[in-house]
Amino acid sequence: MKRLLLFLITLSFAIVPSLSAQVNQSTATLDVSKIRYKINKNIYGQFSENLGHCIYGGIWVGPNSPIPNIDGIRKDVVEALRRIKVPVDRWPGGCFADGYNWKDGIGPRRLRPKTTNTSWGNVPDDNAFGTAEFLEFCKLIGCQPYITGNLGSGTVGELSQWVEYCNSNDVSSITELRKKYGHAQAWGVKYWGLGNESWGCGGNMTPEYYSDLVRRYSTFMKDYGKNRVFKIAVGPGGNDYNWTNVVMKDARQSFDGLSLHYYSFANEKPATDFTQKGWFNIIQSTLQMNTLINKNDSIMNIYDPGKRIALVVDEYGTWYAVQPGTNPAFLYQQNTMRDAVAASCNLNIFNNHCDRVRMACIAQLVNVLQSMILTDGPKMVLTPTYWVFDLYKVNQNAMMVPIKINSAEYSFDGESIPAVNASASLDSTGTVHVSLCNVDPNSPEVVTFRLESFKGKKISGRVLTAEKMNAHNTFDNPNAVVPKEFTGYRLDNDSVMTVTMPPMSVVVLSMGGTLEPPPPLKVKNPVEGLNYEYYQGTWQELPNFALLTPDRKGTIADFTIPKQNSGQDFGVQYEGYIKLPGTGLYTFSLGSDDGSSLYIDGQLVVSNDGEHAVVFQSGTDYLGAGFHEIKVTYFQAGGGMDLVAGIEGPGVKRERIPSSMLFREGK
Ligand code: AHR
Repeated sequence: MKRLLLFLITLSFAIVPSLSAQVNQSTATLDVSKIRYKINKNIYGQFSENLGHCIYGGIWVGPNSPIPNIDGIRKDVVEALRRIKVPVDRWPGGCFADGYNWKDGIGPRRLRPKTTNTSWGNVPDDNAFGTAEFLEFCKLIGCQPYITGNLGSGTVGELSQWVEYCNSNDVSSITELRKKYGHAQAWGVKYWGLGNESWGCGGNMTPEYYSDLVRRYSTFMKDYGKNRVFKIAVGPGGNDYNWTNVVMKDARQSFDGLSLHYYSFANEKPATDFTQKGWFNIIQSTLQMNTLINKNDSIMNIYDPGKRIALVVDEYGTWYAVQPGTNPAFLYQQNTMRDAVAASCNLNIFNNHCDRVRMACIAQLVNVLQSMILTDGPKMVLTPTYWVFDLYKVNQNAMMVPIKINSAEYSFDGESIPAVNASASLDSTGTVHVSLCNVDPNSPEVVTFRLESFKGKKISGRVLTAEKMNAHNTFDNPNAVVPKEFTGYRLDNDSVMTVTMPPMSVVVLSMGGTLEPPPPLKVKNPVEGLNYEYYQGTWQELPNFALLTPDRKGTIADFTIPKQNSGQDFGVQYEGYIKLPGTGLYTFSLGSDDGSSLYIDGQLVVSNDGEHAVVFQSGTDYLGAGFHEIKVTYFQAGGGMDLVAGIEGPGVKRERIPSSMLFREGK
């Protein structure tokens, strides 16, 4: 009966095109049992460069301004940014970063030097917005700061001291200076960039030369206290895959993230002035992001198969000719429904690649390029792009649910792109969020989703759409493009969801329901304990144990390091089964010195690779009750050694994986 119903539903969708040729049909599968990776909230990051009116006028107005402010920082902007839950903000550049001396921006503001912003319009800069102001801004909006260091014109010592100024509570002349300027405690800044676009405005370097600099500068960016600096190296601009290859090959031990910059350009006309050709070209160019990520990821996989290194898309967005009458160096542009659709495409791509893309910063926050906010003196308006970030915030730190989509085409002028793209996530309350984008400005789109391992119940939705492609918000008409309640969905038999999207729209649906467990594994004669293989050898990263011959094999109660080690440098592979008491989201963790990784049912869940002191990493998986294959790989290289494997989930409080949960096949 259930099958017949599904068949009839599917059939009814299949015949719709003959009734209405205008409505496109797409189909999709959403399999909740296939979740593996968390959508790092930092994918929803921002970028605020000292460029045009991003900082001065957009964020900073000074404490004496009539514009309401908190110690010089605009109140309205802070409130708007808190709403979209900005997780991270990158500053001071961009190109500006590689000419910036951080010491110009500390201490009493009246004593700070006057400089010229030679990167952006040669305008005077009184350096009122410096390190402390940026960190205060981040605190006010509730995000992590991400500071771009100067590798272009600054010295190793300068960058080393900037990290020390921000992060050290030790005794030194630099920390004394900070205290003298009124900041007794270090801020503890985690994210640091090793220059910006070093292949271009950051120094016109070759990747070989840049790799040398990365190794050198990174050596002197120290960890202070408990704060571990997360270093982000300059990656390629667009499709410069040779850059990725060389930097990964030569310098990967010196960084934790590699950047990618990619803009969708149409810089011959301002943002609001375009025809359907301009719409199509921008969306087509935006969708290229998927190819860039795939190709960069496959190069990174050669050197970093465990995906320790994050791909950080720390500049992306649309780039048009500036708004007529504005300073050409200030990159001020309006923001339309086209930008909202482009933002949604990019965010769907990032969500779907969240195994590798773990941070992204749209360019830029206020008044520059594809911004969230536009200001004019005391006036402020939120852009359509802002509203996409508002709709998508539900995905922050949720588990990505893979979607397979068979989309109708949107064709223009002899070329075609998929009309619909989507991403989905499962949050900690068990709600599934489906984020959809119909890029076709002419046709509505019906998408039929088959839900697997999930029985849908109550759905709610919001939509961002407009009548005109260039619809936008202005100071006089701020609500032309804002999200509205969406009711164009239907749920049949708990397992087929049909969504009818208007042309050029972004829809986010939230669906409650119940997760269905995947079938349990059968294990022959399970006995307590694991099998392990011991390998002697020296590595800096986990080797592929499958290609090596073990020096010894044995059984062991749990994931502890076998007692008889033949030397200081060795590797261990543990294999067996874990028996889980319930169905749901399980978080596994590994604390190890040196590298380790954990696989469940053949899938990498925790990656903690590399030569390092004790570092903890975790990963989450949706698993059914019963047996699952578990494998842990570990290597030790000189110095201290440690391995702790942890678990937390339904029926298991956060603990070291106990031997009572671990099994191997008996005879
Ligand atoms: O975002 C504007 C500029 O674009 C940045 O300064 C630079 O990094 C990129 O080329």
